[in-house]
Amino acid sequence: MIDNCGRTIDYMRISVTDLCNLRCRYCMGEEGVCKKTHQEMMSAEEIVTAVKAAAGLGIRKIRITGGEPLVKRNIVSICRNIASVEGIEEVCMTTNGILLPDMAEELRAAGVTRLNLSLDTLDAERYAFITRRGDLQQFFDGLEAALSAGFDKIKINVVLIGGFNDDEIRPLAELTLKYPVDVRFIELMPMYDSGDFDEKAFIFSECVLQELPELEKAKQDGGVAKLYRLPGAKGNIGLISPISAHFCSSCNRIRLTADGKIKPCLHSSEEYSLKGMDLAGMKQVMELAVFHKPQWHGVLDAHNRSEAGRWMNQIGG
Ligand code: 5AD
Ligand code: SF4
Repeated sequence: MIDNCGRTIDYMRISVTDLCNLRCRYCMGEEGVCKKTHQEMMSAEEIVTAVKAAAGLGIRKIRITGGEPLVKRNIVSICRNIASVEGIEEVCMTTNGILLPDMAEELRAAGVTRLNLSLDTLDAERYAFITRRGDLQQFFDGLEAALSAGFDKIKINVVLIGGFNDDEIRPLAELTLKYPVDVRFIELMPMYDSGDFDEKAFIFSECVLQELPELEKAKQDGGVAKLYRLPGAKGNIGLISPISAHFCSSCNRIRLTADGKIKPCLHSSEEYSLKGMDLAGMKQVMELAVFHKPQWHGVLDAHNRSEAGRWMNQIGG
């Protein structure tokens, strides 16, 4: 699909659930989500139908997100069914990694080829703090499981938070010396009412370059991250700058929420419902959503919060 700004839309991110086994402070509240009824959420069948509709319109890449996608019932078969839809070339997943020791092999066999794992600190106490309940060892067990299951390219997502992990940029980056993974530093986005963070928390990804003067420019891969490399590393360092250098002009994606809304832009409150529709109906709604995809998301900083109207776990990171 080509939108009305000339952008080719070939990537859909699907939040399969807004539930999560962690509670990251920049993503959701302590109490989790106010649980929607089962009927309000997309069923496994509807999710696969939505992927068929999207593939028919030119979507080639799918990313499965959450909440935490691995807490969704039947997630492995959902992935398998999505991967077998004609036209879908790549199925990736963003996960916190906690459940990977039991699931990595099955997921790989189901056709998920790439994983992004979330990790904001190497300190066990800080990890427990930022996730409100996570155990850092479980993350590393998950990472090891993913590596041995043979995923193509594992990326570790670090949300940069001033006053929290800006003193850990070097050790986090040095994970690329130890493991064949990319480490990507992502600017903290001021999502709907994520009130824990003050101005000092919103730092620019450029500070990674100051912290690591030996970084070399790496071959760019066309994604949203600017890529660098530490000398001798097994993977790249990526900088993702939604705040300091928004990438709206090359945005190629739409999103599907767990309750069946197409969001043409992460930070806009515009939503188009697919719930209860058949394949043809879903196609029509997706075309409409893409037609109305905003040109950019407007100013975002500590004072100008996202207009998404949802917490991140309800949209998918
Ligand atoms: N700002 C930046 N990234 C976020 N994520 C979630 N919430 C935010 C936020 N407020 C990203 C994290 C996590 C993924 C699931 O979503 O990178 O890895
Ligand atoms: Fe869960 Fe990911 Fe949100 Fe953390 S950022 S609460 S792991 S969905």
